[in-house]
This record gives sequence, structure tokens and C-alpha cells, in this order.
Amino acid sequence: MQNIQRFTLSDLALPIKTLYTGYLLAIGLGLLMAGMQIMLTHGMADGKFGLSVDDIVYSYHGNHDGPNATKLESKLFGSMKDNAPPEVRLTLVKWADAGAPANEWESNIKPLVDQYCAPCHANMPGLANITDKAVMDQMTKRDEGMSISTLTRVSHIHLFGVSFIFFFVGWIFTYATGFPPKVQAALILTPFIFLIVDVASWWLTRMNPNFAWLVIIGGFVYSLASTIMIFTSLYQMWIMPLRQGRSPFAE
Ligand code: HEC
Repeated sequence: MQNIQRFTLSDLALPIKTLYTGYLLAIGLGLLMAGMQIMLTHGMADGKFGLSVDDIVYSYHGNHDGPNATKLESKLFGSMKDNAPPEVRLTLVKWADAGAPANEWESNIKPLVDQYCAPCHANMPGLANITDKAVMDQMTKRDEGMSISTLTRVSHIHLFGVSFIFFFVGWIFTYATGFPPKVQAALILTPFIFLIVDVASWWLTRMNPNFAWLVIIGGFVYSLASTIMIFTSLYQMWIMPLRQGRSPFAE
């Protein structure tokens, strides 16, 4: 096939260079912020700083069993540990674990709550009044992960929004030189493929926690591909002309 002569990043007109540069800098910063936000929201889902597979599982799949499956259980194993003797905590945990059956509330559970928890929880303003069954229900709700409606919403926003970012980053990168065309094409395609993999893996993780790895890999690969494209484009616009003894500001 004939190789069509075309613009290269290093000899673009100055106004186009500044347009591309402004965009790439803002997008680069945006990607960094997105990474930080993921660390701060999902990253803390398992209570520990830093993104781990557990975080992804808790965010998308939820936490269906184990000592932290409900708020009541995690508090009784955590900050509320000293507020009741072990056998009382065990009774409460078993009740929560069994799905907080309503028929045991009046007879078995409420008396314990009244005795051990009410001194604070029914009196201190701002503290959840767990002697109220409706409030207690909130504490014994199982964490089912992200709801389908939330997942649908974030999926389409993510697909639309992020593909716009990749489109323009890829567009600018099409003017880069020095890459075999197939490598360049693969770099441009990669973020789109892994964007789809990433979003698909949210849904898969919701169904099966073993897919959590795919979420991390998807995000990592498309960040890597866009970082390569952003840095290459900036380099070829500004540094490459300098190294060739030309002014990067030439018009
Ligand atoms: C000495 C006072 C005190 C007692 C007694 C106490 N709590 Fe708490 N509880 C707190 C405070 C303060 C918080 C908020 C800080 C925190 O979450 O650790 C809290 C928070 C909680 C929460 C989380 C509420 C929310 O809105 O997130 C739960 C659930 C809970 N306690 C359960 C219990 C249970 C069950 C008992 C009885 C076995 C109990 N607490 C006894 C003071 C108390």
C-alpha cells in the first residue's frame, strides 16, 4: 500500500500544537485524579489503604458472608467489641447472620439491645437508635454490592465519557512518527478494547468475585497505553524538534 505523506507532530503549526498540548496536559492530570479517586473510594472498601482484589470484590460483588457481612456484625467485632459481654455479642451476631429474623426481635434481641446498647444508642443525639427495629434493619442489611441500576448508569457514562478521551488522545497520536504502523494501530486500539474489558469485568465481578482481577488488569492496561500515547505526543511536538536542531515554536 502507498504510504501517504502526512503531517507529523513535530512539524505541526504552533496553534495546533498548543491546542493538542493543552488537551493532553489536562487529560493527563484527569487520568491521575481518576486513579487517585479510585484509590480513595474503592481503595478503602476493605478498610485498608491501597487498591486490592478485596476492594474490587466488596465494591462490585458486595460482602455476603463473613464477619463483616452486615454493619451490626462488623461493629460488634470492631468498635463495639467492649460494649457487651461475648455471649451477648454472639447472640446478636448469630441473629444478624441468620438474616435478622423479625420473630426473634421482641423476645430475644430487643431486651439485649435495651440493656447493653440503649444507654448510648437511645440517648446520645446523632447516634443510630438501634432499639428501633427500623433503624436496626439498616444495620443488618446485607451488602449486595453495586445495584444493577447503579452499574448500568456508571457503565454507560464510563463508556461514553472515556471513549471520548481515548478518541482524541488516539487521534493526536496518529500523527506520531517512528512506530511501525501495526504497533501504532495496536496502541490506539488497546484503550478501547480494555475499556470494554474493564466495564464487562464490573458486571462479571458482581456475579462472581473471581473476576476482580480483570477489573485491575483492564484499568492498568488502558492507563498504560494512554500514558505512552500522551508522553510520545508531547515529546514529538516539543522535544523532538529541539533534538533535531529546530525550534519547536516554528510556524
Ligand atoms: C458507650 C456507648 C456505646 C454503647 C454502650 C454502644 N455503642 Fe454502638 N456506637 C457508639 C458510638 C459512639 C458509635 C459511633 C462510632 C462508631 O461507629 O464506632 C456507635 C456506632 C454503632 C454502630 C454503627 C452505627 C452507624 O450508624 O453506622 C452500630 C451498628 C452499633 N454501634 C452497635 C452497637 C450495639 C449492637 C451495641 C450493644 C451491644 C452498642 N453499639 C453499644 C457508642 C456505643
